[in-house]
Amino acid sequence: MTRVCLGIESTAHTFGVGLIDEKGNVLFDEKSFYQPPLGQGMLPRKVFEYHAENAASLIKKAFETSKIDIIAFSQGPGLPNCLSLGATIARYLSLKHNLPLVGVNHPIAHIEIAKLMTGAKDPVILYCSGGNTQIIALTGNRYRIFGETLDIPIGNAFDVLARSLGLEMPGGPKIEKLAENGNWIDLPYVVKGMDFSFSGIVTECQKLYKKGFKKEDIAYSFQETCFSMLIEATERALAHTEKEEVLVTGGVAANQRLKNMLEVMCKDRGAKVFSVPMKYAGDNGVMIGWTGLIMYKSGVRTKLEESFILKDWRVDEVDVKWT
Ligand code: ATP
Ligand code: FE2
Repeated sequence: MTRVCLGIESTAHTFGVGLIDEKGNVLFDEKSFYQPPLGQGMLPRKVFEYHAENAASLIKKAFETSKIDIIAFSQGPGLPNCLSLGATIARYLSLKHNLPLVGVNHPIAHIEIAKLMTGAKDPVILYCSGGNTQIIALTGNRYRIFGETLDIPIGNAFDVLARSLGLEMPGGPKIEKLAENGNWIDLPYVVKGMDFSFSGIVTECQKLYKKGFKKEDIAYSFQETCFSMLIEATERALAHTEKEEVLVTGGVAANQRLKNMLEVMCKDRGAKVFSVPMKYAGDNGVMIGWTGLIMYKSGVRTKLEESFILKDWRVDEVDVKWT
């Protein structure tokens, strides 16, 4: 009998519930997504209230879909009140139904679901989303961070720039579209060792826009510059680890230009590129369920007294026992 794991994702704007079995069959995948009113940021209290309203009906539906053997939840990092909601629900379900509990690291779940869906075995991972930008690879029993942003994440940089150019959210796809008709302008290129920084580039773009430079040219140059920086650092991580695969995941992985640039770099090095299917690029409950399931099979259990949230939990703090 294959076991089924329930995954609860609640680190930020998405409250996701997923069911997945040991063979990787997705049995349930639903989410509610909080979108702030136009022009406003995400107020943690509002996000929490929204998730609290929608959580019960999603969980109920999942329990009506299949028998459940394991309860997994996103334990961190993320917004503390959203994390607490997911963790509390998970603890309650574990006690009520007498099921084992597994607390999952959110970025690791992005990686594990991407590996499952693409078939990548041991890749260098370019994790670029709204909340994170890191180059990660498994060495020994840790997902180690080889490079990361020194300030804002790349997805956030796209969104901030888009807002300054008067574009709608999310900004990434709008900038990508504008960039198709742009020409080159010199921008700062900021790679420090294996790390990189985006906020100065955004500021420079904002200044250029005020001076009257064309949106298309700014979008094109911004995208080319930021992606070149990411690719330079990814290439160095590939060379250092001697791995033969690159896996790109997170919301920015939707960008076709980024994938094309990665293809070119990897072709030169004889490495293969894998890109997470869009359905599983953003936050979802299935990724938490899958990671909880493989952790459970390797013997990991989260005791109730250890199930408190870890709002700043980094990938390299997790002992990887399941690969
Ligand atoms: P995290 O995984 O860190 O929790 P998140 O869940 O907020 O972050 P995602 O949903 O993975 O982020 O990604 C959203 C981000 O991806 C937004 O910043 C958005 O602008 C960006 N994005 C989406 N499509 C594109 C694109 N085509 N080009 C560039 N950026 C994009
Ligand atoms: Fe995420």
